[in-house]
Amino acid sequence: MPEFEPVLLARINKPQSAALETYRADGGYEALRKAVAMSPGDVTELVKSAGLRGRGGAGFPTGVKWTFLPKDHPGPIYLCVNADESEPGTFNNRILMEFDPHQLLEGIAIACHAIRSPTAYLYLRYEYGRSYRVLETAIQECYAAGILGENFMGTGRRLDVHLHRGAGAYICGEETGLIESLEGKRAWPRIKPPFPAIEGLFRKPTIVNNVETLCCVTHIVARGAEWFKSVGIAPDPQNPRDAGSYGPKLYTVAGHVNEPGCFELPMGVTARELIDVHAKGVWKGRKAKAVVPGGISMGFLSADELDTPLDFNGPGKRGCLGLGTAAVVVVDDQTSMVDVLYNCCRFFSHESCGQCTPCREGTLWMTKILERIRTGHGRLEDLDLLLEVAGSMGIIPGTTICGLSDGAAWPVKNAIHKFRPEFEEYIRTGRTSRDPVAYAH
Ligand SMILES: Cc1cc2nc3c(=O)[nH]c(=O)nc-3n(C[C@H](O)[C@H](O)[C@H](O)COP(=O)(O)O)c2cc1C
Ligand code: SF4
Repeated sequence: MPEFEPVLLARINKPQSAALETYRADGGYEALRKAVAMSPGDVTELVKSAGLRGRGGAGFPTGVKWTFLPKDHPGPIYLCVNADESEPGTFNNRILMEFDPHQLLEGIAIACHAIRSPTAYLYLRYEYGRSYRVLETAIQECYAAGILGENFMGTGRRLDVHLHRGAGAYICGEETGLIESLEGKRAWPRIKPPFPAIEGLFRKPTIVNNVETLCCVTHIVARGAEWFKSVGIAPDPQNPRDAGSYGPKLYTVAGHVNEPGCFELPMGVTARELIDVHAKGVWKGRKAKAVVPGGISMGFLSADELDTPLDFNGPGKRGCLGLGTAAVVVVDDQTSMVDVLYNCCRFFSHESCGQCTPCREGTLWMTKILERIRTGHGRLEDLDLLLEVAGSMGIIPGTTICGLSDGAAWPVKNAIHKFRPEFEEYIRTGRTSRDPVAYAH
């Protein structure tokens, strides 16, 4: 593998990195110029052959998703840019938007050309005030420079990008919840099929892509599919469903480490390298007890699983739901897993949209059971009860509309499976949380 050269974060420390002028001076918008000279089908084929998989959590192949759009559709087709970024611990999209917004806007314009969309909606997490201001300025710069608007890039066609502030809930990031929210409704996910590529925003064919995914598109067009495939990891021959983990990836590291941050690395870096080398180790000289590989909905790696490669395939081999958002959260060995799991459950219970009974009730009851354990009234059979509730909710058991429920159940299954003796000791000794006030509702 050639020596790794960061591209997604290459510009973020430069002066005025968000300005169109500096972006252009660094070769910005040349990839878009190249793309509009190609046919939409050829751009889609390029992205497909690069093996890019979505960075929003599910890892679906991007070019393949674009081919699901109906052929010769009279229009309109829409692109929704998912910038809701609400998975706890995740902040890679924010860094890209605040420090290099034109990299994203270039990826959006290329994607719109590839899918023949005249309009993109950039759905931005409400709390991201700085991203909003930076993006608003960058979009205005694009209109003034003819990169967006009438006759964009001299193509004779119109292209618009609308910046939309989100409704302030985790469920707004689920792609059909996002679409409902954009339509002005409560972000209740839709039953699929139909998938958005067939019937999405305003019931028209729609592609939903993550911010980092679209930034990768810019570099695939600029540097080619072979370059993208030269970074990362080829498919696991033992897993026929693995499509490989190609390209650079942003990993965020947070929690009990000395230097939390956002790092660009080739796909497949191990959790140990991320923590020890890039985040400068676990804080206060302690050891890691558990590590969330990619947002809390993915579950946990235990201390003896830190050499797991964080690609699309690795965390699943260790019983996690997947790579998710590649947001690593480190839990040190002085922290109670009962408290950690209680916090996870409380988040999902608060964020469940409530449409599906197993999710609405399951997230609530898991929180209540853990609350009972934390206040010293737990029973050993509560652990199996938690597993039973967790096993009954989600798309995987087929009882809910969206994946929030799977993400709520996974940390419970995982934590009890990997840390059961700690939970049992907590219950047997009638221990209570060290700081009940800090965690109180
Ligand atoms: C509860 C929930 C929340 C989600 N939040 C986000 C999010 O904030 N950002 C994101 O890109 N994808 C999120 N997703 C995944 C999206 O539904 C969708 O798969 C993704 O935006 C597709 O983009 P990609 O193919 O480029 O990854 C979420 C999924 C679920 C189930
Ligand atoms: S699984 Fe949960 S969040 Fe998703 S639609 Fe059902 S109730 Fe809402």
